[in-house]
Amino acid sequence: MTKRVGFATRIGAIAAAVGSAVGLGNIWRFPFEAGQNGGGAFILVYICCILVMGIPVILSEFIIGRSTHSNMKAALKKLSPGKKYYLFTYICILGSFIVIGFYSVVCGWIIEYLYQALMGNLSGHTPQEYSDMFTSLVASPWRCVGWTILFLVMNFLVMSRGIEKGIERVASIMMPLLFVILLIFCVNSLLLPGAGKGLDFLFYPDFSDLTMHGVLAAFGQAFLSLSIGISCLVTYSSYFKDDTSLTKDAMTVAVLDTLVAILSGVMIFPAVFSFGVEPTAGPRLIFEVLPGIFQQMTGGYVWALLFFLLVFFASLTSTISLSEIPITFMIEEHKTSRPHAIVWTALFTLVLATLAALSFNVLDDVKLWGKNIFDMMDYAASNIFMLLGGLFTAVYVGWIMDRKIIHDQLTNGGRLKGTMEPYLIFCMRYVAPVSIVFIFLYLTGII
Ligand code: PHE
Repeated sequence: MTKRVGFATRIGAIAAAVGSAVGLGNIWRFPFEAGQNGGGAFILVYICCILVMGIPVILSEFIIGRSTHSNMKAALKKLSPGKKYYLFTYICILGSFIVIGFYSVVCGWIIEYLYQALMGNLSGHTPQEYSDMFTSLVASPWRCVGWTILFLVMNFLVMSRGIEKGIERVASIMMPLLFVILLIFCVNSLLLPGAGKGLDFLFYPDFSDLTMHGVLAAFGQAFLSLSIGISCLVTYSSYFKDDTSLTKDAMTVAVLDTLVAILSGVMIFPAVFSFGVEPTAGPRLIFEVLPGIFQQMTGGYVWALLFFLLVFFASLTSTISLSEIPITFMIEEHKTSRPHAIVWTALFTLVLATLAALSFNVLDDVKLWGKNIFDMMDYAASNIFMLLGGLFTAVYVGWIMDRKIIHDQLTNGGRLKGTMEPYLIFCMRYVAPVSIVFIFLYLTGII
């Protein structure tokens, strides 16, 4: 029997969940998704999605995890003995591998930019030159794959030495710092000439720019950013103590995560319009825009370094939580030893990540529905796997799980009041499943 240890404090548990949620999803992906899908209208849909699906699904995962103190598969077996719901865990595991596959490539880009910042190369250039710099990075298979592997080695070294708790502790100091730095960058970006256009783009919803694909993108972005739908938060909450308020914890994760995303938008878009970069530039967006912001600031060299270092740590706490999904699963369900589980997870991740890293250069003509391998993985993970996971979790908790356990978990055995239980149950039962099914049916052309 593997001994399970709890988080020492509520702050420890929450910091780990926030550490998982806040990462490249907020800083890199949110701005470019908003840019590609019309800005303000996308953000409005995004926020609604957090309220009616994000928070309820976070809570559903927390309820499953804490009521059983087990990983997803064992939890579903305990909660529904003799039923096959636990098979869903395999979808979660596959989903987590796909996320980490493309995600670690972007972590690799962050290391390259950390290196460029250190070398002093992120100042004194024109916007076009910054754009060329990114193009030359992704065009080079060696650099892309090399940085990605370096990142993965660091990630799995941390995990094999069992120092992820240490990293989380470091991150719980770094995260508030990241927040402050984002604020400082926002101010600097807002002072650029023509910055107002960026704010209009972000906060003035123009629904004529929003398509059904944009709505799906907002759903997918919300799920990826909150780390929900692949059982990551089930694993984390299985370590939560029995006397913390799950509702409060879920709100804390959602609010902090959303704040970081919006701040990233406020940092990026004024600069996008000021430098004349296309808001629809996609994954390259922040890499083209950020150096220009650093360059305007006194002490830009230090700001750039600090920024990429903090983003690096934010990404590491996310990839640790991602790799923990298959690792805990193998250890607890297949009695694999921790070192073996880590090696298998690392190898499988390496294969996927290498394919993703090569999809901008050597494999750039391998395309499915017009998307390269990297884009396919990104799309499949957030818009299919995580949404399906969210659908399953909401339906399971809303319709199948014993209501008494849910009530006990939300109120800690009747001790807590004001947990918004009826609202949450309503969202889990109706709003989340209906919206997700609707969007799938619409996009597959059935309705
Ligand atoms: N939420 C993380 C981010 O925004 C990514 C992630 C997804 C982490 C799923 C864990 C599980 O960067």
